[in-house]
Amino acid sequence: MARVEAEVGKPQGGLLKWIDDRFPLTKTLKYHVTEYYASKNFNVWYVFGVLAFVVLFIQLFTGLFLTMNYKPSAAEAFASVEYIMRDVEWGWLIRYVHSTGASFFFIVVYLHMFRAMLYGSYKKPRELIWLIGMLIFFVLMAEAFAGYLLPWGQMSYWGAQVIISLFGAIPGIGDALVEFIRGDYSISDITLNRFFALHVIALPLALIGLVFVHIVALHEVGSNNPDGIEIKENKGPDGVPVDGVAFHPYHTSKDLVAIVIFLMIFSAVVFFAPEMGGYFLEHANFEPANLRATPEHIAPVWYFTPFYAILRAVPDKLWGAILMALAVLLPMFLPWLDKSRVRSIRYRGWMYKTALTVFVVSFLTLGWLGVQPAEGIYVRAAQVFTALYFLFFLLMPYYTTIDKTKPVPDRVVAHG
Ligand code: HEM
Repeated sequence: MARVEAEVGKPQGGLLKWIDDRFPLTKTLKYHVTEYYASKNFNVWYVFGVLAFVVLFIQLFTGLFLTMNYKPSAAEAFASVEYIMRDVEWGWLIRYVHSTGASFFFIVVYLHMFRAMLYGSYKKPRELIWLIGMLIFFVLMAEAFAGYLLPWGQMSYWGAQVIISLFGAIPGIGDALVEFIRGDYSISDITLNRFFALHVIALPLALIGLVFVHIVALHEVGSNNPDGIEIKENKGPDGVPVDGVAFHPYHTSKDLVAIVIFLMIFSAVVFFAPEMGGYFLEHANFEPANLRATPEHIAPVWYFTPFYAILRAVPDKLWGAILMALAVLLPMFLPWLDKSRVRSIRYRGWMYKTALTVFVVSFLTLGWLGVQPAEGIYVRAAQVFTALYFLFFLLMPYYTTIDKTKPVPDRVVAHG
């Protein structure tokens, strides 16, 4: 009897078994890592999801250390950032990694989204992965916007002024809404405090939660691939997709190479060009916020400029704001606007290829126009490219229906 009692408390089969009897550790690792089968023909476009993870981690880590020395008050914020840059040990590095990380987050996420457009990853059954991704994108925009106010520089202040005042164009509730967002009659210490709270707690938590469900949804249906073929439909006798390989070690080892290359490029920017000629850190933001002097040109950071150009392309403030909001929201509907029978661009006809090229050119040109003065030819050009941007989405049901597609092979095709 005494022997049996001693056995009860003793781990049988080691620590792992002890944990597994109480928590699904091995089961979870198998399901999501060692027995998660992803297509063997992933190309470079498939590394940006993992890289988004890396940047998220970098931002959370450096953000934590910035918060230890930053003062969220209108009187002290600007000076506390200067203190971080000059006096805090390694403070300059922590800040530059965080500010560069913000821009790289958008570079990586824009490329990640574009991959989905190349290979039709948003199409059935991955609509929800895409919708969760869009929510991540909205929260990311809010996170970047709130973060930009924190240094309390000229552009922090006036950028926030322009964007928050847009809500004032909404008939009836506009003025009350603007006051509600600011928490004051103008952008003040109170606004800075609430943006700080959103930036360090609420929005990062939302991001982490959304990224978690993004991956849960992805692993439920399985990843798409550059051929847009459903690999789960062709399984071997062992029940494993014949075109799939285990995520670990095959994809993890490839991802590791991508992470190293990414970190090399990222470090090069952090150490040699953290301001990126005023695109990553705007020159006007090295001056403290001055409520009495508006900067000559107010331009948001580069990742918002395509949408900003759309706002300024319309002479009417309310319509400009509506079009800008629509431009941000429209990609949500891609799974239903795209009627093509094939997913991947490899098997689509010339119409989709042309439309996607026009979309990319419009988006990039709008981005450039967003930092030019809002006058003359620049406004005209912004109107043309705004129209093209919208036509890409609005005509999609039509051109994806009539576009001549090529036959899709039964098995995935590996290049190189
Ligand atoms: C913090 C931001 C994000 C993280 C960490 C993240 C992470 C990931 C990861 C790790 C994957 C699997 C690997 C890959 O396919 O690249 C993935 C797939 C995917 N993501 Fe994201 N993602 C983020 C944002 C977004 C956004 C903004 C969208 C779109 C609006 C999006 C849409 C998708 C889609 C459609 C897939 C499936 C792609 C396929 O299987 O071809 N994601 N994501």
